Amino acid sequence: MKNKRYLVTGGAGFIGSHLVDRLLAREAARVVVIDNFDDFYPRRIKLDNISPHRHHPAWSLHDVDLRDYRQLETIFAAEPFDAIIHLAAKAGVRPSVADPLCYHEVNVTGTLNLLELARRHQTRGFIFGSSSSIYGPAAVAPFREDAPLSPISPYAATKAAGELLAHTYSHLHGLRAICLRFFTVYGARQRPDLAIHKFTRLIDTGEPIHVYGDGTARRDFTYIEDILEGILAAIEYAGSPFEIINLGESQTITVNEMIRLLETALGKKAIIEYHSPQPGDVPLTHADIGKARQLLGYVPQTPIERGINRFVEWYLASRD
Ligand SMILES: NC(=O)c1ccc[n+]([C@@H]2O[C@H](COP(=O)([O-])OP(=O)(O)OC[C@H]3O[C@@H](n4cnc5c(N)ncnc54)[C@H](O)[C@@H]3O)[C@@H](O)[C@H]2O)c1
Repeated sequence: MKNKRYLVTGGAGFIGSHLVDRLLAREAARVVVIDNFDDFYPRRIKLDNISPHRHHPAWSLHDVDLRDYRQLETIFAAEPFDAIIHLAAKAGVRPSVADPLCYHEVNVTGTLNLLELARRHQTRGFIFGSSSSIYGPAAVAPFREDAPLSPISPYAATKAAGELLAHTYSHLHGLRAICLRFFTVYGARQRPDLAIHKFTRLIDTGEPIHVYGDGTARRDFTYIEDILEGILAAIEYAGSPFEIINLGESQTITVNEMIRLLETALGKKAIIEYHSPQPGDVPLTHADIGKARQLLGYVPQTPIERGINRFVEWYLASRD
């Protein structure tokens, strides 16, 4: 990675800002971030995420919207990139049901804009941050990459579309495109809308937490450090020109079990209110990580029990 030039979209967000930490630590020659500080969650959190990067000579930031092709073109015209790591997106399953057009514009048109500019400017590598949600409710666990897809939210459908576009550009133009299907990622700086973070905050402040369904939905929660190892290995991957690879922990727990782990880590009891399941939610995510192990040498290191403790330690330190 030393001396390479990377474009990281979404580099002010949760996963993206951690990736930038790692790329700078590995002495990348350039780490250029595109992020429009979308108002899905507060700008100040994203400004905190990038504050350690600000004075690094290899880092620069463009506060640009992925939908703005002309502005993106100026960035590509200014310098070449060895690879694009495309993590910017409208994230979140439930809000996508309310605003599908915006999800489509950012996640599909925005991804196509980047692919087209990668083609025009001969960028060789493209890593796409995809999602386990695209498997849908009927997939057989553990989910394998060759399983049929049945997305049931606009968000999931836009991620499936992004994978297809990446495949098309790889096939037509020789781009090396690796689509990484992330399974719910957590750890320091996790998005405040995601369950582990939201529940931690509410248990800590003594407010009720809303569980949609009866809490028996199972999730494959993946610790951020494991995801980063997978992304870094995908950047270095030099095999086939197109791959889709799951990045999960391959260990599932129920939402109720996750709440119990948070209670223990915080030393506080949760006030739980159960509600009907929400449209777009899937009952289970569970990654088969055999392909990641084989192609990327991916071996996740952080079981949920340890990861939750680390998350709560970070939460308590950042809260104070
Ligand atoms: N966190 C997870 O559990 C998870 C799971 C599956 C997939 N993913 C995917 O991984 C990627 C990163 O997720 P995250 O949790 O770090 O989310 P995040 O919201 O923290 O980061 C995404 C970043 O993209 C930026 N962005 C949004 N719209 C933009 C636009 N129009 N132009 C430029 N920038 C824009 C946001 O400002 C944000 O900083 C996303 O593509 C997400 O869909 C995340």
